[in-house]
Amino acid sequence: MTGHGRPEGRFVGKVMVVTGAAQGIGRTVALGAAREGASLVLVDRAEIVHEVRAELEGLGAQALAVTTDLENYSGADSAMAQALDRFGRIDILVNNVGGTIWAKPYAEYREPEIEAEVRRSLFPTLWCCRAVLPAMLKQGGGVIVNVSSVATRGVNRVPYAAATGGVNALTASLAFEYAEHGIRVVGEPNSVLKSYRSRPTTSARSVPARLTAVGPSRDPGRGPGPGRPARVIRPRRGARPRPRCAIPPARSPRTCAP
Ligand SMILES: NC(=O)c1ccc[n+]([C@@H]2O[C@H](COP(=O)([O-])OP(=O)(O)OC[C@H]3O[C@@H](n4cnc5c(N)ncnc54)[C@H](O)[C@@H]3O)[C@@H](O)[C@H]2O)c1
Repeated sequence: MTGHGRPEGRFVGKVMVVTGAAQGIGRTVALGAAREGASLVLVDRAEIVHEVRAELEGLGAQALAVTTDLENYSGADSAMAQALDRFGRIDILVNNVGGTIWAKPYAEYREPEIEAEVRRSLFPTLWCCRAVLPAMLKQGGGVIVNVSSVATRGVNRVPYAAATGGVNALTASLAFEYAEHGIRVVGEPNSVLKSYRSRPTTSARSVPARLTAVGPSRDPGRGPGPGRPARVIRPRRGARPRPRCAIPPARSPRTCAP
């Protein structure tokens, strides 16, 4: 903020929608963008998203909180409609909802678990991209940032890998399809995490690390945690530690995670 209470930064005059904004990376992105002048639409199915709205308003930002389930198209459509109703445009959409629910060998996943993983980590992004496009086309441009994961290649999270691989595929395809309309579509595999882990949490510019500043995810569907379905696979005593990824993630361009 400037000394006169006016925001300054890269997002002055921009409207940004952040999904999964109640906590973790989404909340962190929203706070950072608000500090740089953005007006925010915070979308989450958790009611605590209203606490984040109050936090942003405390910083002097304009903010709207929308509680909806983005695993359904109607939820995504309603979120974009409410954003347009309040601010008249959407310059940036950050699709951040997702996250592994269970971690175990693929042979042990049951059908509903596989479906739940794909619903959690692919559909919210797929739906929100579709729901925002008419507005971006009408206004002549926009930016879509899809948060993915380096876990597209790894062990014990095959359905999540499939879902985030799907996010990478739709990101690249949308980027090709809408470039000529001034719509930029980019993917974010993990550099958000790298940047916030590498900065001291006391710095005003820093993004507070979820593990130290926010604690474990408060999304009841995310494991591991007490009463949650996730199962942590630990190596047997004396066994050599297994590599986290069967295939090391490639150093990929920003538009598409490995
Ligand atoms: N945390 C990590 O280490 C990590 C690593 C790589 C990628 N990612 C990706 O980053 C993104 C955010 O991760 P995080 O750790 O901050 O997650 P988180 O669990 O802390 O927050 C996710 C938020 O999304 C919301 N949400 C979940 N399902 C929803 C739905 N159907 N509709 C609306 N809101 C919903 C939750 O309520 C929660 O507030 C995810 O896409 C994840 O796959 C995270």
